[in-house]
Amino acid sequence: MLQTKHIYLRLIQEADVGFLLNLRLNQNLNQHLNQVNDDKEQQLNWLKNYKQREVRGCDYYFVIVDKELGDIGLVRVYDIDYVNKSFTWGSWIIREDNRPKYAAIESAILSFDFAFNELNLVTGKIDVRINNFVADNFYRRFGMQYKYSDELNNYFELTKTNYIQLKYNQYYKFLLN
Ligand SMILES: CC(C)(COP(=O)(O)OP(=O)(O)OC[C@H]1O[C@@H](n2cnc3c(N)ncnc32)[C@H](O)[C@@H]1OP(=O)(O)O)[C@@H](O)C(=O)NCCC(=O)NCCS
Repeated sequence: MLQTKHIYLRLIQEADVGFLLNLRLNQNLNQHLNQVNDDKEQQLNWLKNYKQREVRGCDYYFVIVDKELGDIGLVRVYDIDYVNKSFTWGSWIIREDNRPKYAAIESAILSFDFAFNELNLVTGKIDVRINNFVADNFYRRFGMQYKYSDELNNYFELTKTNYIQLKYNQYYKFLLN
């Protein structure tokens, strides 16, 4: 199992629908994400369809689990293109109450590790709404490369080579010894 000091990831299940809705309907957290309807049945259907994409290896949606606190967030590796070895990284959200400081960085490390090391992909694509300053700052600070913008988003990339360097030069303190 991929894990850092405080965090591990597990694949989302249909039983997580309540947790997912709780996060995605929180108005402090969802301003810069695609809207999700307050409709459990609809969301369950979405998760059932997602599970088929998971089986096909083209979409991996994770619950971020804190070893002490339990489920704290979600992150996703999707639009996986095995020919070009690329993926989109996102749907990233971490609860606001009692959110540990290390959660953002450790969940980013784990999900990129999964994409680059488990799936052997080489390019991660990340988009962020232009006014999502928290996430935008995080991505720049993390070491993602700004590529371009359109009216809606700023677009970043992270390559496997960059990621491996960052992981061992800057983020080793978050890893298990
Ligand atoms: C995006 C989200 C997951 C980021 O989590 P966060 O905890 O707010 O992230 P922060 O940038 O505050 O980083 C957390 C801590 O790690 C630190 N940190 C951030 N980047 C770091 C880095 N590269 N190296 C070391 N520490 C770092 C921060 O300084 C912060 O610590 P501090 O509180 O002592 O300053 C969270 O804000 C969220 O769920 N937002 C709503 C959904 C959303 O917008 N998702 C992104 C869509 S693109």
